Amino acid sequence: MKQLLPFSKSAGQDLRVIAHYGKHSFFLADGKEIFDAQSGNGAFPLGFDRPELINFVADNIKRVPFVRANNSTTADPILELNAKFKALSKNKFTHVFYGLGGSDSIETAMKMAIAYWKTKNVGSKNKFISFLHGYHGSTFASGSATGIKNFHRPFRNTLPLAWTLHANQPRWFGIKSAEEIELIENTSLTELEALIQTEGADQIGAIIKEPFSWQSGVHPPSQQYYKKLRALCDQYEILLIVDDVCTGAGKLGTYFGAEWMGIDCDISCNAKGLSAGFFPLSATFCNEKVGEALYDSYFIHGWTYSPPMTGVFAALKAIELLEQNNSLQRANEIQEKVSLCADSLLKKGLINGFRAQGVFCGMDIENELAKSKIELILWEHGVQMSCYRFDPVLRTILALSITDQEIESLFQTLEKVLADELAKVIKKERVSK
Ligand SMILES: Cc1ncc(COP(=O)(O)O)c(C=O)c1O
Repeated sequence: MKQLLPFSKSAGQDLRVIAHYGKHSFFLADGKEIFDAQSGNGAFPLGFDRPELINFVADNIKRVPFVRANNSTTADPILELNAKFKALSKNKFTHVFYGLGGSDSIETAMKMAIAYWKTKNVGSKNKFISFLHGYHGSTFASGSATGIKNFHRPFRNTLPLAWTLHANQPRWFGIKSAEEIELIENTSLTELEALIQTEGADQIGAIIKEPFSWQSGVHPPSQQYYKKLRALCDQYEILLIVDDVCTGAGKLGTYFGAEWMGIDCDISCNAKGLSAGFFPLSATFCNEKVGEALYDSYFIHGWTYSPPMTGVFAALKAIELLEQNNSLQRANEIQEKVSLCADSLLKKGLINGFRAQGVFCGMDIENELAKSKIELILWEHGVQMSCYRFDPVLRTILALSITDQEIESLFQTLEKVLADELAKVIKKERVSK
């Protein structure tokens, strides 16, 4: 059986076989150690070495392996998790729908929005606005909401679906002043409002927004931007869905992205990191307004695993560990440490700009470096870190459990690789002149 690899051409790949994991690294079959600077694409915020969590799941799953929610059954661990999530949201989220992954959470949120408007006897609000360069998943609706045009290309005649619209989101590269960023933000909001007016607010059910897109390079807008976005949603009676799949579970120093954004959202999509990565779990939360409307109606939507019990037990333990280790505070310390290290690269002329936020960082590099397959070179130096395919930005998602020494060592490797590669680019340019 040949495996089809996600987002890759499978043929001709030299498969790298992972033998085992350490705390923040994995080891290949030949013994080579690779430090994962993206903590399992953000799904493993507490590191890869959590025997206490695995043992907790193993002990408990024997007791309650499955719950069939559409049989009106539940179990104590689910009720306990509901209460914990409600408290973590500071009572903003009052209802939850469980699933397995980020894409299914986006699907759920979109259906929730349409179903909500139906309960208000509004049948026309069936369109969604999301943002260019945003990533929301790979199923049909979430893939359609995804704003990366190249991901639609193979499905040209089908995606994006006619009822998903895309607006520009604020993005910038290199060093920009606060005034320049404000202008970029305001331009994007003006364009968004124009799109709402052109389509008709009576057609738009929800706007889907990530706190910021990690995939496309970490461009966190100001709280002012989010406030204006929320105000637009209120003015035109549009629900706001926050896609917190990548940014949630404490990675920004708050458990939920909406709190970090400083606004209330109607629906929040969460997955990666809820269960510390070891077992799949997604949770689509909503506020009282949306939740109560759906609770009183038939919400015709669901999965066999809603929720998967392994994910529930893992999430209970993950929250306990997060609290025990004061991990929300650690996200802020990581941001400070990474900012210092990245600033040193900037001062040495090795990167053109950077944006560190919580455990995330986007670093703008020369186009030539991105083209020279910097990811492969970093891999050779024992680091897994990727570059956004369509703009030259190197991106990290560090685990909340990372130490300052590990951050320093990561940036030392980065400095060496960037300096060596830039020197090669400069030499090539000189020769070609
Ligand atoms: C912001 C965001 N939304 C949705 C998804 C889709 O999640 P999944 O891959 O679990 O389906 C991802 C995955 O990277 C993501 O980063």
